[in-house]
Amino acid sequence: MKIFLAPLQGMTMAAYRNAFARHFGGIDEYYSPFISTSAGEKVNRLLLKDILPENNESSVKLVPQILGNDGIQFKAFAEDISKLGYSRINWNIGCPFPMVTGKKKGAGILSYPEMIKKVLDTVCSGCSYTITVKMRLGMENPEEGMRVMEVLNEYPLGGVIIHARTGQQMYKGNVDLDAFYELATLCNHEITYNGDIFTYNDFLHIIERFPSVKNFMLGRGALRNPFLPSVIKGNTIELKNKTGIVKAFHDEIFNYYRNRLSGDKHLCDKMKEFWDYMHTHFEQNGKFIKKIRKCNRVSEYVKLVDEIFNSAWIDM
Ligand SMILES: Cc1cc2nc3c(=O)[nH]c(=O)nc-3n(C[C@H](O)[C@H](O)[C@H](O)COP(=O)(O)O)c2cc1C
Repeated sequence: MKIFLAPLQGMTMAAYRNAFARHFGGIDEYYSPFISTSAGEKVNRLLLKDILPENNESSVKLVPQILGNDGIQFKAFAEDISKLGYSRINWNIGCPFPMVTGKKKGAGILSYPEMIKKVLDTVCSGCSYTITVKMRLGMENPEEGMRVMEVLNEYPLGGVIIHARTGQQMYKGNVDLDAFYELATLCNHEITYNGDIFTYNDFLHIIERFPSVKNFMLGRGALRNPFLPSVIKGNTIELKNKTGIVKAFHDEIFNYYRNRLSGDKHLCDKMKEFWDYMHTHFEQNGKFIKKIRKCNRVSEYVKLVDEIFNSAWIDM
């Protein structure tokens, strides 16, 4: 069984992944948030900053992710990324945001299987890397995903990750496990399940339902409870130690951004994203996160965070 950390743009950047690996572990592969392809003869190195080996600790097995729908641009990026030492590159055909889907990228390309074919024809020919795909059930409905899977089956992919929602659902509503089953059954590649694993019981529910699936990708669940991947792997972390471990993790990320972002507001805004996920296991009434969301001064932020770290981690 393998556990992957899902990419979350703005959250699971190099500093986060490095700190996660050191404090929590349990992750077999970390996926980078997407790098958008662009036109031009040379790939701008700034776009690759997050995945440069010098920014990623060796304990973090990283799979870089690309977002795009132009085979030639994609291939230029993939070649440069593979020169950095990465043998597996993930293609994002699941991003649901209208700014992306409107350009027939991300989940937007799922309605156009012939476009997917064209991209893969270029990207998979004579390449030095293996492509994996992260997709949704479809843009509007699961029938779209079935047509896309028939195309994906024609290529030597390294695996397919399926977030069991349509693009139209964004992050709302329930995952559609029946549609996931249909799509996974049609797929000739190694499958990874993704979507709404927030607790150990959620994980048990998924493995009972899909005993042949061996790979699981966790996003928001791992950001809310970073102990979860390790617990799924069979490790036990004593409750009394959990707050201290999260504090050490938090302090590392806070100091990283404090040294790089200028101005109180920028830093507080960055840390709000962190707490949007992490507060779940520290409070049940939502008072702390309300104050953090309003906070724009670092001195106040430090006081609020000191208080929350005086409370015990709540297991769920
Ligand atoms: C804020 C945010 C940013 C995301 N960024 C990416 C991304 O860059 N690439 C990607 O493939 N998926 C992205 N996702 C989707 C997640 O990787 C994952 O598929 C989704 O959250 C479902 O898994 P979960 O229920 O375990 O969170 C993002 C999701 C969120 C909420």
